[in-house]
Amino acid sequence: MKRVVTRKLTPGMVLANDVYTYDSYIKLLDKGTILEDKDIARLAFYSILDVLVEDDPVEPIVPEPALQGLSYSERLKQSEEFKEFRADFEECATRFEHEIQDIINNEPNFNVDNMMTPIYGLLEKGRTATNIFDMLHNLRMYDDATYTHCINVALITNIIGQWLKWNKEELEIATQAGLFHDIGKLMIPGSIITKPGKLTSDEYSIVQTHPQRGYEILKPINISAHVRNAALMHHERCDGTGYPLKLTGPKIDRFAKAVAIADVYDAMTSARHYRGPLCPFIAISMFEEEGLHKYDPEIIMVFLQNIVNTYLLNTVRLNTGEIGEIIFVNKTHLSKPTIKVGEDYIDLSKCPGVYIQEIV
Ligand SMILES: [Fe+2]
Ligand SMILES: [Fe+2]
Repeated sequence: MKRVVTRKLTPGMVLANDVYTYDSYIKLLDKGTILEDKDIARLAFYSILDVLVEDDPVEPIVPEPALQGLSYSERLKQSEEFKEFRADFEECATRFEHEIQDIINNEPNFNVDNMMTPIYGLLEKGRTATNIFDMLHNLRMYDDATYTHCINVALITNIIGQWLKWNKEELEIATQAGLFHDIGKLMIPGSIITKPGKLTSDEYSIVQTHPQRGYEILKPINISAHVRNAALMHHERCDGTGYPLKLTGPKIDRFAKAVAIADVYDAMTSARHYRGPLCPFIAISMFEEEGLHKYDPEIIMVFLQNIVNTYLLNTVRLNTGEIGEIIFVNKTHLSKPTIKVGEDYIDLSKCPGVYIQEIV
């Protein structure tokens, strides 16, 4: 038996102990689990630093190379469209990092609209919601810093608003709410924010002050009250299990509810220091597992359904190694659609343990 840090885990390693979350003592994985990519993603998502594994790993299922030679993600990354998006995104992140200091320093000439222009630029050039989601998933390979997280959440919240058919003004508020949601984190010591190991309970309570701090920073700024509320309430959950105020559904600002989903989705899909971008279906199953009741019912359903629909008719690889096409979305188990493999139809909702591992 040996202790291995989560980012060094590889598929095929066998857990020597049950694994629980640090705070709420939820069991994440059982002793004896043969680790797969999705398990390692869960451990990383729940910030499990290390686990005990058996000395001898089991032979993992090695996926066959993609049919067309290059995977979906590799093809996307070679496209001119992606290269342009990446360049625009990097420029945007650099500008944002610089300009956000003006807010913190209370610069009198600070102008929110100027700050938003490059963000809206990322949403233009004929880029569709699907396009942007795809590109964000693949961009994660390059950088996962706090500033890029804020831009990701701004773009994802804007797209959620589009899917909810919000009007132009609402979309602007949604984008700003996403961009500034974690601004309070800039007031938390960097040594805590970037600490690689487990936070002490004191450090964790300091991190948990970032919603109020964000609200305070945004108070003197000429900005919609929804944007301030999103900074304050994006960690609230509809069932009352969030923080800082333990608000329940009706009391949480709807923009904060949209930001909460974008925030968690971004954290899930970037929780991977050890491999390529996390498959969106694994993120969806993590939402389903965590409990959809934590989120606004309309927003979470529209969000997850649109993501699943994005990948309808795409070719995917299952964890069994089989390759097929997504042909039918199962509304009660969004992460488990029906897949056509050769002449067979596999309804994943009826096949425990079988899941979509990769879009190819
Ligand atoms: Fe936050
Ligand atoms: Fe966040």
